[in-house]
Amino acid sequence: MDRSNRVSAFLMLWLLISVGSSPLSMVVHTSSKVGLPAVLPCTMVYQLETTHAPHIQWQTTRESVFERMGEELFQGEDYTDRADVPKEMLMRGNCSLFLRDVRFSDAGIYESYLVVGKSSIKNRVFIQSVQLAVIDHKTIKSVKPGEDLILDLYTHQAEQVIFQNSNDTNWSVFWERDAGINKKGYPKERSGKLIFRAVTASSAGTYKVLDSQGLALSTVKVTVTEPVLLAKETDALQRHSALGKATISMPPLSLITLFLSFHLMVFK
Ligand SMILES: *[C@@H]1O[C@H](CO)[C@@H](O)[C@H](O)[C@H]1NC(C)=O
Ligand SMILES: *[C@@H]1O[C@H](CO)[C@@H](O)[C@H](O)[C@H]1NC(C)=O
Ligand SMILES: *[C@@H]1O[C@H](CO)[C@@H](O)[C@H](O)[C@H]1NC(C)=O
Repeated sequence: MDRSNRVSAFLMLWLLISVGSSPLSMVVHTSSKVGLPAVLPCTMVYQLETTHAPHIQWQTTRESVFERMGEELFQGEDYTDRADVPKEMLMRGNCSLFLRDVRFSDAGIYESYLVVGKSSIKNRVFIQSVQLAVIDHKTIKSVKPGEDLILDLYTHQAEQVIFQNSNDTNWSVFWERDAGINKKGYPKERSGKLIFRAVTASSAGTYKVLDSQGLALSTVKVTVTEPVLLAKETDALQRHSALGKATISMPPLSLITLFLSFHLMVFK
C-alpha cells in the first residue's frame, strides 16, 4: 500500500466515524398509509427520577406538533385532535408520537425533545429524529356481475372518486362528498365505505379516491368476472335450482295463496 492509498484509507475511516456519530444517521424511518394511524418511535434513555411525567416536545422543521407537560398538552394547528403521546406510555419512558388519520402533508422529519430544568432555566435535550413517509393505497378487486362493489374511502379526507372504464381513456366523476345526489344507482357512503349496488361488466376499470388537493389516496383496479360454467352445466344448474325452489323452499301457505290467487284470476 503506497502513501496516497494509506491517506485515502485513513480519510475514509474518519468519514465513516464522523458520519456514524452525526445526528443524521440516527434518523429512524417509518411509513404509514394515508388515512391510517402512525406511530413515530421514541425511547428515552434517561433514568426518570421523579414520579411526574416528563415534559416532552415533538416538532417538524416547520411547526410545533405536540407537547405534553403533565396533564397539560398542546397540539399544533395542523395536528388538532390527531397527535398524542399517551401519558401512561411516557411514564414508562416511551415517548412515541401517535398520529391519527395521517395526511400526505404529514410526511417529513420529526424531532422529539425532553425539556428539563426549573421554570426559569430550561434546557432541551434532543431525543429522536423520525422520518415519516406517507403512501397511498393500491388494491385489486374482482367482483361478479350483480354483486355489490365496496370501495374503501379510508379517511374523511376523501372528497371525490373518479372512474376510468377499462376500454376508455376518459376519467369521469363517480362520486362526490356532499354532492347531495340521491339518484338511483348513485353510490352510497356508509361508515367510510362506498357501496355500489349490483355491478355490471361496465363497472370494470380503475377507481381513484382523491383528496381535496386532487391527490390519489387510493387506486383500485376492478375486474368484473362472469362465473365460468360450461353451457350444459349452466342448464342443469338452472333446472335443478328451479326444482329446488318449488319442492323445498316454498312453504305450504304460499302454495295455498298461489292456488287461491290463480283461482280468483281464472274465475273472476
Ligand atoms: C412504545 O409504544 C409503541 C406503541 O405502543 C410501541 O410500538 C413501541 O414498541 C414502544 N417502544 C418501546 C421501546 O417499548
Ligand atoms: C371523453 O370525454 C369527452 C368529453 O366529455 C367526450 O366528448 C368523448 O366522447 C369521451 N370519449 C370517450 C371515448 O368516451
Ligand atoms: C370493452 O369492450 C369490449 C368489446 O368492445 C366489450 O365486450 C366489453 O364489455 C367492454 N368492457 C367494458 C368494461 O365496458
